[in-house]
Amino acid sequence: MSTLITNIGELVTNDPEADDLLGIVEQGALVVDGATVAWVGPAADAPAADQQLDAGGRAVLPGFVDSHSHLVFAGDRAAEFAARMAGQPYAAGGIRTTVAATRQATDEQLTAHVARLVQEMRRQGTTTVEIKSGYGLTVKDEARSLAVARQFTEETTYLGAHVVPDGDPDEYVALVTGPMLEAAAPHARWVDAFCETGAFDVDQARTVLTAGAAAGLRPRLHANQLGPGPGVGLAAELGLSAVDHCTYLTDDDVHALRDSGTIATLLPGVEFSTRQPYPDARALLDAGVAVALASDCNPGSSFTSSMPLCIALAVREMGMTPAEAVHAATATGAAALDRDDVGVLLPGKQADLVVLDAPTHVHLAYRPGVPLVAETWVVGRPLRAP
Ligand code: NIG
Ligand code: FE
Repeated sequence: MSTLITNIGELVTNDPEADDLLGIVEQGALVVDGATVAWVGPAADAPAADQQLDAGGRAVLPGFVDSHSHLVFAGDRAAEFAARMAGQPYAAGGIRTTVAATRQATDEQLTAHVARLVQEMRRQGTTTVEIKSGYGLTVKDEARSLAVARQFTEETTYLGAHVVPDGDPDEYVALVTGPMLEAAAPHARWVDAFCETGAFDVDQARTVLTAGAAAGLRPRLHANQLGPGPGVGLAAELGLSAVDHCTYLTDDDVHALRDSGTIATLLPGVEFSTRQPYPDARALLDAGVAVALASDCNPGSSFTSSMPLCIALAVREMGMTPAEAVHAATATGAAALDRDDVGVLLPGKQADLVVLDAPTHVHLAYRPGVPLVAETWVVGRPLRAP
């Protein structure tokens, strides 16, 4: 069954061959055939299809690729957020509160909670989501967190190295790189570590990522979130696909990212929710570093599932243009997950798309806080917003 979506006021393709960043087709059309895009181009040239839908002049974009989230958890930390808004700083140790609640939850409760958050993301246009473990921190709880996440996405990340739950840090790193890794690896595509004061130092992070890679996982890293440090340098040295947060960078960090081609994934929901300074996306882009945007949805530092909010914040607070922010939330998010089948709308690519209740992508930043996603299509099928 093929569907022609026509009368698209602005079709964002992210075609890398186009002259403009977003590969925009004005007055465009697109044919979805099964799970994939079969054709894109000007509406006037569109081929026939089994059925036809009129987009009414609205904009169509690739679905958002949220390359960083922590959805497997129980409880919330609203009181911690309120305390922060009254002047308390954010610290890595808050993670332990969520660990305690997560260990007590049943698999069914965790699954239902992830399902609700994924549904929330879909309603806001996210079509690919990466989900990390990291609130279990025992062999059993990390493995079951990943098994829960796998029900929703192939992009699962083992984050046993989120924080040291208790006891001796070196013994915990030995657990994370030994029996916990063995139990987690069958359910994970990626391995991650939180390289920060109060979490893991650069040597421990290197040990975790190296062990994960030897077990067949692809490494990625949380770094330079709470202050300057060696994490981003490690990511560049290891040639990681992406390093996430990048809030506090030196010029050397920026040059290292440029030289290694590592994507800087910026998470503006964190700075919004912790009152920290926003990362300097403009400086990264001007230096030639690729920038992705993601939600970091988690109960501590960023309890938002909204990629449109991240786009609006990136434009208004981080010096990105609307086009750069949309590209970062789609094509570059896909690249941060080593994916080239999503984040673009071109023939042969997965038919993951968003229909906006707006004429252009600019409205995502121009109308912050407004629910502009009218429809989200995932693998060729529409999910209508309620
Ligand atoms: O990405 N930085 C480490 N992990 C999360 C926060 C987790 C939490 O506070 O519960 C993050 O910000
Ligand atoms: Fe995170």
